[in-house]
Amino acid sequence: MTQTPSNPDIAVVILAAGQGTRMKSELPKVLHKVGGRAMLHHVMALSGELTPDRMVVVVGTKSEMVAQAAHDFEPKVQTVLQDPPLGTAHAVSASLECLNGFAGDVIVLYADTPLISRETLNDLLTQRRTGHSVVVLGFDAKDPGAYGRLITGDGDELLRIVEAKDASPLELETRFCNSGVMAIDGALLGDLLAAVGNDNAKGEYYLTDIVEIARSQGQTCGVVRCDEDEVLGVNSRVELAEAEALYQQQRRRQMMEQGVTLADPETVYFSFDTVIGEDVTVGQNVVFGPGVTVESGVQIKPFCHFEDAYVKADATIGPYARLRPGAEIGVEAHIGNFVEIKKSKVDDGAKVNHLTYIGDAVIGAKANIGAGTITCNYDGFSKHTTHIGKGAFIGSNNSLVAPVTIGDGAYTGSGSVITKDVEADALALERAQQKELSGWADKFRRKKQLKD
Ligand code: UD1
Ligand code: CA
Repeated sequence: MTQTPSNPDIAVVILAAGQGTRMKSELPKVLHKVGGRAMLHHVMALSGELTPDRMVVVVGTKSEMVAQAAHDFEPKVQTVLQDPPLGTAHAVSASLECLNGFAGDVIVLYADTPLISRETLNDLLTQRRTGHSVVVLGFDAKDPGAYGRLITGDGDELLRIVEAKDASPLELETRFCNSGVMAIDGALLGDLLAAVGNDNAKGEYYLTDIVEIARSQGQTCGVVRCDEDEVLGVNSRVELAEAEALYQQQRRRQMMEQGVTLADPETVYFSFDTVIGEDVTVGQNVVFGPGVTVESGVQIKPFCHFEDAYVKADATIGPYARLRPGAEIGVEAHIGNFVEIKKSKVDDGAKVNHLTYIGDAVIGAKANIGAGTITCNYDGFSKHTTHIGKGAFIGSNNSLVAPVTIGDGAYTGSGSVITKDVEADALALERAQQKELSGWADKFRRKKQLKD
């Protein structure tokens, strides 16, 4: 909706006014995340891909938080309050003031149904343009349970939708169910909604009733079928986990199709925005939090965790590495086991191979950081920076007390606590002189043995 020219023929209405009580959560249901992104934002992102003329989110429970989240994601979105929620038709009616006579295709989506694909929406729009006033997205349910049933005639013609609670035993036998997603002729929408009543088992205004209403006015309605997995609606934490699992499956497949090797796909977790280049190898048990980019040729060994980090080409990461926000790893750099990097730049070819914490640091190209190095970046009040020059060599078990600068090519001795800047090409040592007491151990043992 922002950069690309908008599509004057499409408006999207996203329903998000349901109570979501089964989540048992302070957070509104639609703000729970799948793949690191709020379900509402998934649905808004999908809607945005259609570059609609307008996007309306219908909010109810905790409306301010949901409306705020909607605006944060897309400033041009319109939000409208539906209070109290009296059914799906009532919710779409609430959006009419924002649609304001819009006469193109109105697509209705649910904010708690985050996995629908762009292709499926395209199918829905294509079908709508064959002349049906309403086209409904259906699926064959393994367990049709409480879903509305789609009663079809010849071909793709939809006769009516009956809610499970209002259905006859015969109607309940159909497994072809309503996902809730619809494309509706905007020019007719207001009239169709005005004819919906609430004389039914739930006493709600059902959006599903518009099918029979349109037909009674001499129009036709159609259906498009999709996979059940795409239209999984999330009502509980169990369903949230199911949606997450399905989403991860999709992402793993996409990554492999784009040229990423996953040693054991089921154990690798991606975020909605993870970007990985070709010929990257990802070992077992790796988690990509939001905001991660990995360039081509990188090798990621098992058990690594990434968040808001950037890894340049041909670097080697892990096993057991943790890249935290602001970690920037250079070309062919090596980050080894039990190394944590936060808000730091590790330049090309540098090596941080073992048991190390690097925070608020800039490490020059080809520097070598010894095992057990700690950048002491925090004094209890503020954070300070450590600069390590190109080709510098930090000995094992160093504490680098920031702010501090180690010059290009300098060495620091093992076990040093470095509190002062070190000039280029110098050796800095900070540790007590080694003493040796000849025969001490032997004497000590004899004394102990005499006592026993
Ligand atoms: C609805 C459909 C049903 C379909 C099912 C798919 C109707 C009458 N029934 O049933 O045919 O199989 O979805 O999941 O449409 N919402 C509002 N305001 C309201 C009521 C609902 O915004 O007043 C929103 C909810 O937040 C949710 C969506 O609409 O995102 C569906 O509501 P829900 O109560 O879950 O509908 P179902 O009874 O499951
Ligand atoms: Ca539902």
